[in-house]
Amino acid sequence: MMALETEKLSLRINNRIIFDDVNLSLPRGAFASLLGRNGAGKSQLLRCLKGLRRPTSGKILVDGVETTEKERIRKIALVFQSAEMQIVSESVERDIAFGPVNLGLDKAEVEKRVEDAMSLMDLKEKAKERPGTLSGGELRKTAIAGVLAMKPDVIMLDEPFANLDYPSTLTVIKALVDLHEKGFTLLVVTHEAEKFLAHTDTLLVMKEGKLVENGPSGELYEKLPSYDIYLPRHVRFGELSWLNA
Ligand SMILES: Nc1ncnc2c1ncn2[C@@H]1O[C@H](COP(=O)(O)OP(=O)(O)OP(=O)(O)O)[C@@H](O)[C@H]1O
Ligand SMILES: [Mg+2]
Repeated sequence: MMALETEKLSLRINNRIIFDDVNLSLPRGAFASLLGRNGAGKSQLLRCLKGLRRPTSGKILVDGVETTEKERIRKIALVFQSAEMQIVSESVERDIAFGPVNLGLDKAEVEKRVEDAMSLMDLKEKAKERPGTLSGGELRKTAIAGVLAMKPDVIMLDEPFANLDYPSTLTVIKALVDLHEKGFTLLVVTHEAEKFLAHTDTLLVMKEGKLVENGPSGELYEKLPSYDIYLPRHVRFGELSWLNA
């Protein structure tokens, strides 16, 4: 079963083609990485998948069913690169509760979801802390926890390792691996594939608005240099991870 699919998805802005004829398929439970050079159209594709922007043409299906923007806002989560800037509440737990409260859930359900999300992201000790006192890695984990509390079908992350130091990067990679093991479907946009590609099963590549690859990462990773995407030399697929360093 495909968690997320697109059919002939295209986006034009002011008559400019941003992406065109994108047919992607992401199986349920996939851990996928979406790569491509600056301006390839990755972030705009995520915005359309999430339901923040209406594509010019084409379909977006979740679990095989065509969806509206409104449905996808609920079902599909997007963690922005600057997600930590959007953390505004006075404590970690309140920030994670913000989404579930807005869904209109009752207090007990909100508390349960916040507890579950905090334990998944290993944030329980930080529950009462003010976001201003957290490190970049902890803030990003808080942003991811806030998204988890919404119980999304698919979690998309745009540049989750950007600006993180080595230990914080490891923390976020570990969290992603953990979410994958728990069965979440993950789609990660990054320029730092060598940090975690070994843990992924699916690789997508965009080039100049076209989806040019969508398949098993263990086979496709060798093609990355031909798309001008960095890959350390003489490294086996299983070594493409900072967790194994
Ligand atoms: N509002 C807009 N109006 C016109 N063009 C836009 C708009 N937003 C984005 N674009 C263009 O769409 C193209 C794709 O942008 P997008 O942000 O999706 O790239 P990206 O693959 O995420 O790149 P990066 O790796 O640099 O983040 C870019 O050339 C950009 O200039
Ligand atoms: Mg981008």
